[in-house]
Amino acid sequence: QFELSLRPQKLTQYIGQHKVKENLQIFIEAAKLRQESLDHVLLYGPPGLGKTTLAAVIANEMNVNVRMTSGPAIERPGDLAAILSSLEPGDVLFIDEIHRLSRAIEEVLYPAMEDFCLDIVVGKGPEARSVRLDLPPFTLVGATTRAGALSAPLRDRFGVLLRLEYYDDRSLAEIVVRSAHLFEVKIEQVAAMEMARRSRGTPRIANRLLKRVRDYAQVLGDGMITEGLAQQALELLQVDPRGLDHIDHKLVTNMIERFQGGPVGLDTLAASIGEERVTIEDVYEPYLMQIGLIQRTPRGRVATHLAYEHFGYEYPQQT
Ligand code: ADE
Repeated sequence: QFELSLRPQKLTQYIGQHKVKENLQIFIEAAKLRQESLDHVLLYGPPGLGKTTLAAVIANEMNVNVRMTSGPAIERPGDLAAILSSLEPGDVLFIDEIHRLSRAIEEVLYPAMEDFCLDIVVGKGPEARSVRLDLPPFTLVGATTRAGALSAPLRDRFGVLLRLEYYDDRSLAEIVVRSAHLFEVKIEQVAAMEMARRSRGTPRIANRLLKRVRDYAQVLGDGMITEGLAQQALELLQVDPRGLDHIDHKLVTNMIERFQGGPVGLDTLAASIGEERVTIEDVYEPYLMQIGLIQRTPRGRVATHLAYEHFGYEYPQQT
């Protein structure tokens, strides 16, 4: 699929996340030298930073297949057992949103991860007994937006824990240029930098902006993404200079206007803007905290001095 072709296939094509890459490179090479499957990997961090891409890259580097699923998609223990028993030796099983697996399904995963086997209960009542089925060795790659939401026994069974960080503007600009090249659209370096600055540290957002800016370039320009055209397009897309969208705006201006800048509880805040608590927690808040517009305190969320400034409010005098 075209969308997938934007994703890098090899670790050397994967831009940014230097620590993660450096570590993975070594673990992959060592596993290959020993002709073993790679130890189970937990990837955590905010959405859109390339966890799924990395799982595919790992499988590709190990020369094995990748099977992709997600926590919510696995409804019964039997679903997971079916997937596990269909794996080939060394395969990567990717489970996105792994913190959403039910307890009963986690129980199936423990012996599978630890001893590569399935404990199946056959029969009912007093006749019931447990049968142990061997599985091929495999690598579980789990992804989650918060490692803290994982149960301790599950977290402890991963040998490799890697935290993905927000990308710096230079890496994001590099990704924009790479994607533009794959789209066969010309782009000025300064335009790529401008788009990088407005992508909230997130490649998924950078690539989404690129697609829309490309539309503007084709319709309003001559197909080339110049700095002026990128700025014009980003204005029209209502992406502000820090990349904040209307939900970020609503979130912070609500805190300022309706809660005097806080502290305000997460549930109250969520209700006031009509978003889900977890969406704020996992998607919006991490970046706003990263750039210093909001802070988390024991009594709730607080809009910072910087937030007042960014949105053009006068910071109240403390007395
Ligand atoms: N596309 C999306 N994320 C990427 C990354 N980290 N490196 C290269 N291309 C990407």
